[in-house]
Amino acid sequence: MKLFIDTANIADIRRLNELGIVDGVTTNPSWISRDSKGRSFKEIVQEICREVKGPVSAEVTSTDTAGMLKEARDISTWAKNTVIKLPTTAEGLKALKTLSGEGIKTNMTLVFSANQALLAGKLEATFVSPFIGRLYDAGYDGMQLIKDCTAIYRNYGFKTKILAASFREPREITEAALAGADIATVKPELVEQMIKNPFTDAGLKSFLDSWAAMKKQK
Ligand code: G3P
Repeated sequence: MKLFIDTANIADIRRLNELGIVDGVTTNPSWISRDSKGRSFKEIVQEICREVKGPVSAEVTSTDTAGMLKEARDISTWAKNTVIKLPTTAEGLKALKTLSGEGIKTNMTLVFSANQALLAGKLEATFVSPFIGRLYDAGYDGMQLIKDCTAIYRNYGFKTKILAASFREPREITEAALAGADIATVKPELVEQMIKNPFTDAGLKSFLDSWAAMKKQK
């Protein structure tokens, strides 16, 4: 499973990229707004695209198809690895159909049902982003959506990659991998939690204590 980082914070992206585990980045208007520090959307996206070789999703903010297409065509010139994030609405699906025809990479976002994912697959989105955590927040089974998406895409041979998003805890990343998600996009703090394990720390301490005790005897 590929791992994308779900943030627009360049310091976090750089730190995690040094580990060699970052296959791409997803941003959204909230992440861009949180980390803009007076810089433009374009500057932030270009900086991320220079740091990470893989796909970098940048979201349109228009709600009509014409506006989405105008933004998408502009964003796609900012760097070779930009991916256009579109909301999964009727207007967004119309924009997707046109962008698929133009060979522009897309990420259908805010997906909360298997039917939305089915439509994104039919229209040949590059990625589809089911929001697991927001479904759990509302009392639904977020992981079932990933299972449904993988089964539907397998049934029809859709090439769209399932980019599981909106994770709340590390266990959900394991479950998404088991359910067959192609990619997980994960917030930096959750990536840290994927790495860290108290048993690893305790085991390492005990090994190093043994080593120090042996050195003392010499
Ligand atoms: O990138 C979209 C998604 O991951 C947002 O997550 O935590 O706002 O539901 P969250």
